[in-house]
Amino acid sequence: MDRKFWLGTGWKMNKTRAEGRAYAEALQAVPDLQQLPMQLFVLPPFTALAEVAASLAGSGVLVGAQNCHWASAGAWTGEISAPQIAECGAALVELGHSERRAHFGETDVAINAKVKAVLAAGLRPLVCVGETAEERALDAATVTVARQARMALAGVAAADLDRVLLAYEPVWAIGEGGTPASPDYADAIHGALKNAVMDLHGRSVPVLYGGSVNAANALALASQPEIDGLFVGRAAWTVEGLLGLARAITPIVEARPHAPDRADRN
Ligand code: 13P
Repeated sequence: MDRKFWLGTGWKMNKTRAEGRAYAEALQAVPDLQQLPMQLFVLPPFTALAEVAASLAGSGVLVGAQNCHWASAGAWTGEISAPQIAECGAALVELGHSERRAHFGETDVAINAKVKAVLAAGLRPLVCVGETAEERALDAATVTVARQARMALAGVAAADLDRVLLAYEPVWAIGEGGTPASPDYADAIHGALKNAVMDLHGRSVPVLYGGSVNAANALALASQPEIDGLFVGRAAWTVEGLLGLARAITPIVEARPHAPDRADRN
């Protein structure tokens, strides 16, 4: 399995094109960007996707979208397809974020179709799963995330699993008022998620943690053996924030078994 460490941010519905470009240019200008021992990624809104991807070309930072449609083209007014995203220079597509599940009725079945569309377009899906506070209270976190992951990845070809990433994002941990998961709790859920993928496909995939990651908790989260990356919202919406997190976790990422070498980067 891919043991490189991931660190990235989804901007959600934030930043103008000019703000996105400024972020990308500032990141590209960081002198030791290429020496950071983790795979960075940035997920702008669609409006800024092409120019952020162009600004970050050659930097080693991957750029991605926050959603896509399952069809490659057609009468789907207002939607964006995976081939259209690929054409913008993106490498990743986030799917199934809890905000999309909650506010736009996104189902596990739809997410499965989107995963296949993203893979068919040659991109990497980053599939978010996570239990609600109510599900956690019923001691159903593991069963919930395992079901979400198994449905998202059902029928995915073995050869394509190399490109799949999961993100564990407990709903109660995300955004203003969210409480970050404790490192031990997140690690246990990550282990259960990997087992669920292993049961389905005979191998596992990297699992990133997201939900109120910040400068105070990033190191402890990144120190957990089953946490393969951090997926950050608010704390990385400035370049300083993203870099601060990258620098905070660098020692532990470098000390991880199978620490990535430069040749392993995408
Ligand atoms: P916050 O880091 O702002 O809680 O957002 C997490 C998230 O939703 C990343 O996808």
